[in-house]
Amino acid sequence: MRLLAVTLLVCTPSVCFGFFASINNWGFSEFPETGLNDITFPFNVANAPHTRGVYFAQMFGFQNIKESGYTGLQPQEDDNGNSVIRGVFSSFQNGTTTNHPNCSPGADGGPGVSCGFIFPANYNHIFNMTVQNIGNTTWRGTAVDTVTKNATEIGVWTLPPESGAIVNGQLGFFEYFLWNGGGESHNCSTLPFSEVTMFSPTSMANGAVGGHIISVYEDSSECSTHVNMSYTAVPGGYNIKAGFL
Ligand SMILES: *[C@@H]1O[C@H](CO)[C@@H](O)[C@H](O)[C@H]1NC(C)=O
Ligand SMILES: *[C@@H]1O[C@H](CO)[C@@H](O)[C@H](O)[C@H]1NC(C)=O
Ligand SMILES: *[C@@H]1O[C@H](CO)[C@@H](O)[C@H](O)[C@H]1NC(C)=O
Ligand SMILES: *[C@@H]1O[C@H](CO)[C@@H](O)[C@H](O)[C@H]1NC(C)=O
Ligand SMILES: *[C@@H]1O[C@H](CO)[C@@H](O)[C@H](O)[C@H]1NC(C)=O
Ligand SMILES: *[C@@H]1O[C@H](CO)[C@@H](O)[C@H](O)[C@H]1NC(C)=O
Repeated sequence: MRLLAVTLLVCTPSVCFGFFASINNWGFSEFPETGLNDITFPFNVANAPHTRGVYFAQMFGFQNIKESGYTGLQPQEDDNGNSVIRGVFSSFQNGTTTNHPNCSPGADGGPGVSCGFIFPANYNHIFNMTVQNIGNTTWRGTAVDTVTKNATEIGVWTLPPESGAIVNGQLGFFEYFLWNGGGESHNCSTLPFSEVTMFSPTSMANGAVGGHIISVYEDSSECSTHVNMSYTAVPGGYNIKAGFL
């Protein structure tokens, strides 16, 4: 709801109305002027309960357009005893198009495109959420199991023709989306526990050096400091926990 002061960015619909246990920002210490044609955000969800409600995400912006893309993971209930997870890849930019079967028009009730795909997943494996340009202004989102190396395509969308490459610096978040919107109040002491480790972004681009998560902080929403949120720096990233067991 109130993500203003800390960010270099405009408040997008999801970030304005989401219920966030934590926000993070990320950046590269050295960055090519031409921007990036690929970026990878690794996530470890090993200790996340297999229940729907939480979205661990990183955002990324583009040259010459205003709104960002998002990618991340949403834990799910087991499917007949098999663990599954939903990969998400979306754009909040008006004029984004798609004809991919995992994707549909609109993002959180506004313009854009949302892609989601539930796939079998071993939660103990780190997943690389990769965003890659595949020609012109078309981008593909993929979830790569870093142990098996299996890559699952989450979706493909095309940004408006004036858009450019990925720019340096954006936000990410740990969101409890079942409490989004509506303006109703919530009992902060009932936020279900979840946990994620978010690792530094990387890119294959020459000159993209020192990608890292710069900081993690609590959202200043209604439940700030009341959701049992804690985080610790771990090699290559941050482990973040929030909610009640
Ligand atoms: C999206 O773009 C279309 C076409 O340019 C325009 O008519 C519409 O008002 C825009 N919607 C928003 C929410 O900006
Ligand atoms: C790779 O992922 C796809 C999509 O989730 C799945 O259908 C396929 O079975 C997986 N392959 C292996 C070897 O795990
Ligand atoms: C890129 O644009 C050109 C010209 O419009 C088109 O011929 C080509 O198929 C496009 N490539 C992709 C991958 O969309
Ligand atoms: C996952 O991303 C990391 C860097 O963020 C990279 O070192 C690793 O090779 C990637 N793994 C796979 C299987 O793509
Ligand atoms: C909020 O939830 C906690 C934990 O379940 C409970 O003890 C407390 O009474 C609730 N508070 C209100 C105002 O409902
Ligand atoms: C608060 O979170 C910690 C983990 O960070 C957990 O050990 C603890 O049990 C949680 N507290 C409650 C009341 O659930």
